[in-house]
Amino acid sequence: MTYAPGRHFLQIPGPTNTPLPILAAIAKPTIDHRGPEFGELGLNVLQRIRTVFKTENPVIIYPCSGTGAWEAALVNTLSPGDRLLMFETGWFSTLWSSMTNALDLRPDVIRGDWRTGVKADAIEEALRADTGHGIKAVAVVHNETSTGVTSNIAAVRRAIDSARHPALLLVDTISSLGSIDFRHDEWGVDVTVGGSQKGLMLPPGLAFNAISQKAVAASKRAKLRRSFLGWDEMLSANEKGYFPYTPSTNLLQGLKVALDLIEEEGLDQVFARHDRAALATRRAVEHWGFEIQCRNEAEYSSSLTAVRLPDGHSADELRKEILQRTNMSLGNGLGPLADRVFRIGHLGDFSNASLLGTLSSVEIGLKARGIPYRIGGVNAAIDVLSGNSPPIVHAVEAAE
Ligand SMILES: Cc1ncc(COP(=O)(O)O)c(C=O)c1O
Repeated sequence: MTYAPGRHFLQIPGPTNTPLPILAAIAKPTIDHRGPEFGELGLNVLQRIRTVFKTENPVIIYPCSGTGAWEAALVNTLSPGDRLLMFETGWFSTLWSSMTNALDLRPDVIRGDWRTGVKADAIEEALRADTGHGIKAVAVVHNETSTGVTSNIAAVRRAIDSARHPALLLVDTISSLGSIDFRHDEWGVDVTVGGSQKGLMLPPGLAFNAISQKAVAASKRAKLRRSFLGWDEMLSANEKGYFPYTPSTNLLQGLKVALDLIEEEGLDQVFARHDRAALATRRAVEHWGFEIQCRNEAEYSSSLTAVRLPDGHSADELRKEILQRTNMSLGNGLGPLADRVFRIGHLGDFSNASLLGTLSSVEIGLKARGIPYRIGGVNAAIDVLSGNSPPIVHAVEAAE
């Protein structure tokens, strides 16, 4: 093993850094998952996780990664051959639509440019054209982690309502949950998919389905085969705080502390901290003279920024240089963006000092690789972090 002094800077857009109090809770001895102590833990986290989704409805917690919760959202609500309407925002929306094909569903995918978010008017148009109501669900990604674009989910809800269409609304919040404002109930979302390893500051291994009453009703009719991911047994076991199979006991111990930390800081303050880090990052990137992958200001992501390097420069070589010189990991470009962009994660357990360390490390890499950039990006970020910058308007409010 080679020891690198100082903490590794994990600045990929998830998994994120896990704070010590959460690590300490996970390191506690495993408890009996059928004993009384677990029942209390289960009831505690199952109830309090609802706040993060802004829902009063049940949230299912699976011992799996986000991909499992994607599958759960589909298999619990749909039947073989059902059509869904999806929007191509980037790599993750594309993977989700590939999964629908594998599950014998039929996705109608509205093509996107990987630089902007879901176009609500295109969703409305497609739903209006579907007079026979063949489309059973609209499935979109709230924060596209491959591009750093956040879509306006309230606008998608309005589009479905304006078209008077009964389709369910399924939303992936894997890289926005606990980082960017999301309102499951208010926005009429039927299934919200989440994961533990990003805004919730936990290691990977827990994934969520927040479900509406309409989704529960749909699950009674849905014919896709399911067993492990089925909601029914989960919901009945969860009533007393238990699970139908062995849950991720230690991660749930960590989740309880993660919820404490979020509660202590206040959800709105958590969002504001992410907004500020994102703005400071963009100011640095703009100052350096690089393009941000997201083209639409109202859709800038507060949990990550994808940065385009000028032609002729390899984003992967830059990331490699930075890792060697500063012990910091940055996100790579995915799919067609491979080697074209690098992604700065500024989410989860993240402070002003972490951000300045991150941006300074990027500058070290740029300089070392001889990539032309304008010196002073870190100072531009400091202007934001020290309050000398215009106030932040959150993307959702800006679009309303
Ligand atoms: C938006 C989004 N959706 C889905 C996934 C897949 O989740 P997982 O890798 O936890 O299975 C990811 C992973 O990064 C993601 O960012």
